[in-house]
Amino acid sequence: MMKAVRGMRDVFGEEMATWHRVEQIFRTVSAAFGYHEFRTPMLEHTELFARGVGEGSDIVGKEMYTFLDRGGDSVTMRPEMTAPIVRAAIEHNILRHQPTSRLWYYGPLFRYERPQKGRYRQFHQFGAELLGSPHPEADAEIIMLAYETLRAVGAKLIEGVALEINTLGTASTREAYREALVQHFVAHRSTLSEDSQRRLDTNPLRILDSKHPDDQSLIADAPALRTYLDEAAHMHFDTVRLLLDAAGIPYTVNDRLVRGLDYYSHTVFEITTTQLGSQNAVCGGGRYDPLFEMVGGTPAPAVGFSIGVERLVLLLEQMEGGLQPPSRVQVAVIALAEEARLPAQLVALRLRRDGVSVITDVQRRSAKAQLNAAVKEQAQYAILLGTDELAAGTAMVKNLATASQETVSVERISPYLQQHLGVKAR
Ligand code: HAM
Repeated sequence: MMKAVRGMRDVFGEEMATWHRVEQIFRTVSAAFGYHEFRTPMLEHTELFARGVGEGSDIVGKEMYTFLDRGGDSVTMRPEMTAPIVRAAIEHNILRHQPTSRLWYYGPLFRYERPQKGRYRQFHQFGAELLGSPHPEADAEIIMLAYETLRAVGAKLIEGVALEINTLGTASTREAYREALVQHFVAHRSTLSEDSQRRLDTNPLRILDSKHPDDQSLIADAPALRTYLDEAAHMHFDTVRLLLDAAGIPYTVNDRLVRGLDYYSHTVFEITTTQLGSQNAVCGGGRYDPLFEMVGGTPAPAVGFSIGVERLVLLLEQMEGGLQPPSRVQVAVIALAEEARLPAQLVALRLRRDGVSVITDVQRRSAKAQLNAAVKEQAQYAILLGTDELAAGTAMVKNLATASQETVSVERISPYLQQHLGVKAR
């Protein structure tokens, strides 16, 4: 039997309703904050991620789906959305037309990670990027948008998550800190875990994220980033905190939070949950002022976040004790005689144009089998068309829950159903 590629999931049935629900929330909350949807291609030049996300990051180092296309160009299936958005902003000169650009996106991403619950090789993110502002108000707005999205998804959900924030200062702060960390760890290189030894050469800040027991005492003794921050960085971070406090958004400062991508500066944040085992991050983000320049553009400040949609859907299932029922078919049009098959299709089409959800028979089944199918689909009404009804220009409208039925002229079916189903006429 052919199966889906490892780490890639099919979404269907009851789970689909939960996806639709969260997708609707992404649209509504983004609109409330004045963000516009942006779509970029699934493939980008490999160089974009190598330069933007960073050669030392896990993503570029070992997780990308990269291949040569038929013309011999190296392309990569996007592992994240921030670098593509910045590439597009530079390419279309977006900041010249709109100096403060508020953008959101939703779509699939690809990372060759070890699959487990909540971690897939194709997954989806909803995210937002605020381009053009260097000020802490922008950082706070982005954190609020992330938080309000999760709040809109579920009151219970927001109680079960924790927001952690930190600041990395400017790019030069980060560089000085990087050197200090290398000095600290290199003296004890052989006692570090294998992963951390590798990171010492590629991305020493990431050693701070290690959960490996061998690394913990060295991490605890590592110099604190805080001491490397300049006055401006402290002020920026303090204002972000002030704004979050004023908005009543609870957070903790975690000065070991560094995030795995190379483009960050100043504020970084993560929203985590204890409900998903080891895949505990639901949302990650931060300010990335260096990125425009890293990918060849004029420097521009920016801040953003991404929420993992599979993790959100899993959380919702767990917290609400199951999935939402899928939206139901409302009406089945049933042909009681051979000559009613074509008119049944036409009645169905008319109702569909009026916004009613309708199924008809496409298997040339008996009237009884059609009725059974209507019941199985949990339709609320059946519209029965027989020889007598055809001759009289009417139909029998049957309420499948109460079994009561009424004869209604064909012209009146739509208003009749709209009244009974509460559907708005279009
Ligand atoms: P990230 O932390 O790599 O950040 O990913 C953000 C979120 O995507 C994670 O918190 C998680 O919920 C979800 N996620 C990541 N990898 C997987 C996976 N393999 N399977 C399922 N879910 C996953 C970024 O991608 C940055 N672009 C965020 C950002 C936007 N920073 C600034 N703007």
